Amino acid sequence: MNILILGSGGREHTFSWKIAQSSQCDKLFVAPGNAGTAQIATNVAIGVTDFEAIKELVIKEAIEMVVVGPEAPLVEGVHDFFKADAALQNVIVIGPEKLGATLEGSKEFSKEFMQRHNIPTAAYQSFDKNTVEEGCQFLETLKAPYVLKADGLAAGKGVLIIQDLDEAKSSLREMLVDAKFGEASAKVVIEEFLDGIELSCFVLTDGKNYVTLPYAKDYKRIGEGDTGLNTGGMGAISPVPFADDTFLDKVEERIIKPTVNGLNQDNIPYKGFIFIGLIRVGDDPFVIEYNVRMGDPETEVVLPRVKNDLVELFKAVGNENLDTIAIEKDDRAATTVMTVSGGYPEAYEKGKEIAGLETIQDSIVFHAGTKLDGNKVLTSGGRVIAITSYGTDFREALQRSYQNVDKMSFDKMYFRTDLGFDL
Ligand code: AMP
Ligand code: GLY
Repeated sequence: MNILILGSGGREHTFSWKIAQSSQCDKLFVAPGNAGTAQIATNVAIGVTDFEAIKELVIKEAIEMVVVGPEAPLVEGVHDFFKADAALQNVIVIGPEKLGATLEGSKEFSKEFMQRHNIPTAAYQSFDKNTVEEGCQFLETLKAPYVLKADGLAAGKGVLIIQDLDEAKSSLREMLVDAKFGEASAKVVIEEFLDGIELSCFVLTDGKNYVTLPYAKDYKRIGEGDTGLNTGGMGAISPVPFADDTFLDKVEERIIKPTVNGLNQDNIPYKGFIFIGLIRVGDDPFVIEYNVRMGDPETEVVLPRVKNDLVELFKAVGNENLDTIAIEKDDRAATTVMTVSGGYPEAYEKGKEIAGLETIQDSIVFHAGTKLDGNKVLTSGGRVIAITSYGTDFREALQRSYQNVDKMSFDKMYFRTDLGFDL
């Protein structure tokens, strides 16, 4: 079958790499893609939320499956758009409809969902501009640090963790009254701070049945030792050494099953990935957030550890018979190191030539923010190239990734040298 992937990052290059290995994939398209996807698929210059242009492409190229990478098209209703159109109804769309995507699109919606289904998460209350003073009073009942979350999508910047009570109150006012994050902070969720270590859980569901993919841990901060600003992710490892069987059984019983059952009980149709951001507090798992897509850069270590044919898995999602498939995992560890443009996650330059990629042999090169210029590969984003490696454990895999990062370069390239430091 012909398949289209929406997106242009490392996650989408990894999807392309995996789907291109399937005997069931005939033609593979990526919109808009990057220099990496161009090597294995056909890039089409269409934006991920340009639904009419996507429709035209799907019809013209007889595409039967659309895999949605990022959250924006899901939150804007790309799956609903396909369902409502007679010409597109039979296309399998991997990614939930708008209602399900609200699990990521609204923190308040997801907290209410968790509360309704007894899924462990931080205690919280939500406020709007008419209840700012109540919000300040609620902050007074909590202990520092204070966690303030813009309700809507805020490009990963909408969560503030603040030590000082007065500063937390003024930030709350800025978010609600001064619209610090625009519409996204018209409501703010204030929640209890959970002290623990984070990990990412990935579930693929057809709405009734589910499979759990390998667990991963990503490194979000820009600086060594998990310091500095939050980024989209500076690297990832899989499996997660501290996620032992006892702990993962708790995740399954207390979180994954109630989540999938909750979607059913609430009549929320859902075909796609659920990315559950978890935190381990003592020996117990809590949900930090839901995302309705795969993680990036987690995908760059999760999919290399999945031995199944990804197209088979996605077809089973479309046909609602995911119960017939078991996930086969590669026992090796996988790690990825993300190289980024100097200055990221703040201002950075683009258009720098990337050298040395062709000399990398025993790692997989996933492009995140790149574009082709003739034969040259140029940087075109903050996160640029992810170098994924296998190893008997994450340390061996990391060593390989770092050796290969040293073979590539571009002006002002930066990466973290301490991934796994906390394990
Ligand atoms: P989110 O966008 O909800 O994933 O939040 C971004 C980051 O903020 C998470 O990855 C955590 O590191 C941190 N965070 C969010 N909520 C909490 C919480 N209740 N307690 C501690 N850290 C949190
Ligand atoms: N790596 C975190 C995310 O994709 O949101």
